[in-house]
Amino acid sequence: MMKQFNLSLATGMLAAVLVSSAAVADDPQNTPIPAFGSQCLSCHGEDGRPELADVPIIAGQQPIYLANALRHYKSGERTNGQALVMQEMVKNLSDEQIVALAQWFGAQQ
Ligand code: HEC
Repeated sequence: MMKQFNLSLATGMLAAVLVSSAAVADDPQNTPIPAFGSQCLSCHGEDGRPELADVPIIAGQQPIYLANALRHYKSGERTNGQALVMQEMVKNLSDEQIVALAQWFGAQQ
């Protein structure tokens, strides 16, 4: 009886560990920013909420909007305001990297 109890307890604990690690892996909010985006945090803050008053909050913004904004800086279509700063930031990013960063910032709550 005792043996059986321990076995089911262990199985239940294993299942709980598997479920929770899968949830973390699928959740961009709990995943560090991809390495190619680490420089973004110096201006936009650790989670997309900047301390700098003239840098936009991008945490939780729509990922498609963010990706389009980054593409427009890269293509030179967006040039107003402080766009020059961002043009420099995205010039060497691929579209896959832009999408990944847009999803990461969009997932920050
Ligand atoms: C040197 C500071 C700095 C760094 C580093 C930086 N940004 Fe920015 N970012 C800005 C500023 C300032 C703006 C506002 C630009 C403007 O006026 O269009 C901005 C704008 C943006 C916008 C547009 C937001 C909107 O609402 O339209 C996005 C998206 C963005 N940054 C993402 C990033 C990503 C991703 C990185 C890293 C690859 C990054 N930024 C790195 C300063 C920075």
